[in-house]
Amino acid sequence: MDCYLVEGGAKLSGTVQVNGSKNAALPILAVSLMTGGRCTFRNVPVIRDLQTQVKILNTLGIESQWDGHTVTTKVVDTYNSVAPYELVKTMRAGVCVLGPLLGMRGQATVSLPGGCVIGERPIDLHLKGLAALGAEIAFDQGNIHVKAPRGGLKGATIYLGGKFGSSVLATDNVMCAAVFAKGVTVIECAACEPEVVDLADCLNAMGAKITGAGSPRITIHGVKRLKGVDWSVIPDRIETATFLIAGAITQSPITIAGGRPDHQLAVLDVLRQMGVEVKRNGSKMTVVPGGRPKSAELATLPYPAFPTDVQSPMLALMAIANGTSIVTERIYPDRFMAAAEMKRLGANIAVSNGQAVIQGVERLQGAPVMASDLRCGAALVLAGLAAQGQTRVSRIYHVERGYERFEERLRKLGAKISRVSEESVEAAAGA
Ligand code: EPU
Repeated sequence: MDCYLVEGGAKLSGTVQVNGSKNAALPILAVSLMTGGRCTFRNVPVIRDLQTQVKILNTLGIESQWDGHTVTTKVVDTYNSVAPYELVKTMRAGVCVLGPLLGMRGQATVSLPGGCVIGERPIDLHLKGLAALGAEIAFDQGNIHVKAPRGGLKGATIYLGGKFGSSVLATDNVMCAAVFAKGVTVIECAACEPEVVDLADCLNAMGAKITGAGSPRITIHGVKRLKGVDWSVIPDRIETATFLIAGAITQSPITIAGGRPDHQLAVLDVLRQMGVEVKRNGSKMTVVPGGRPKSAELATLPYPAFPTDVQSPMLALMAIANGTSIVTERIYPDRFMAAAEMKRLGANIAVSNGQAVIQGVERLQGAPVMASDLRCGAALVLAGLAAQGQTRVSRIYHVERGYERFEERLRKLGAKISRVSEESVEAAAGA
């Protein structure tokens, strides 16, 4: 298995181009199930989760082709509507084929995604929404079966909020199923994330009639069929934020190009509180090197507030800030695995009841650490960039689920990071 070796302290410079959004591309690729036409999806990041999604679609009768960041798809048979456990268990987002399959084929079976290291991730809201459209739902041997009633799905008004607020993939699933429901569906307390808007825009380009995406009320007028589409996925706002923090933590003037500054308002606001200036020029954002960042307070909440997916990377910056920072995690209260690993680097972080109190230290010290999820892995790399000496980040397959050629792009900016086999590091240490 490979790991990253990061030599801290290097200054970065230059420009990095943001890739397409993982969390927009995952549900968008699933709309290939909803048309007999050919679909072309551009700006798809070449990462493990998208490769898994394409494999799931292949098992559901879709022929696909990758060419760089472009994926073309076409349904060649509709015989199988079962998304297999072996694939869905490796990536929870596999559940987003549920709505498209139910809407188009009248039935779907998806293995129930189990727990996840970032906390409990139920799908009760997905099922509540589909049931409100008339779907019959059954569980059997770890699988969920959803089936449209005899006369087909019927539009309904559905309140989709849960105890943690709105749900991104539940909104996606219900919106997709409702595209083919008779009459009008209104989703109340819909997720407002830009990824939901991108999915709605893509469906509309295929002939759907969806209004209100990006607000808490989405209205869907049912249609009979959709045509193929040529769609370019929005830039990844979490990757953008990760690179902004890379600039801030190394106090380096890097430019992040091709992102959407309007999707970064909460992150830019926290950076501003911390004294990190970011200059905007169209779609480009440049970090202006300053002194040691100041402490800040933040709470993660659904969009447009601070994203949970940027919480771990931001912990890395707070770990070296001047003063005490407080982070309240309101989406996944247990998502603080990065904190325990950062303590190995000398960070002073106390976590309890969904809150982290970070006493900034002047300098982190390199050490071997382990990624336990995608954003934790990215955060550890960021911490390593600022630490004194060498940081070894293991289990980087988590990072590669969501960041394309992460270490190569950081290296091009001047970071001292390499991807080597764990065995070679251990052999060298033992020699
Ligand atoms: N929730 C429920 N019931 C449900 C669904 C969700 O209670 O049926 C709860 C969750 O447990 C959580 C909250 O609602 O507390 C929000 O979860 P949401 O459903 O919005 O999460 P998701 O749609 O499964 C997407 C992203 C995650 C991101 C979250 C929150 C994709 C593929 N995944 O997940 O991304 O953290 O929204 O913004 O879009 C990541 O990229 O690292 C990642 C984990």
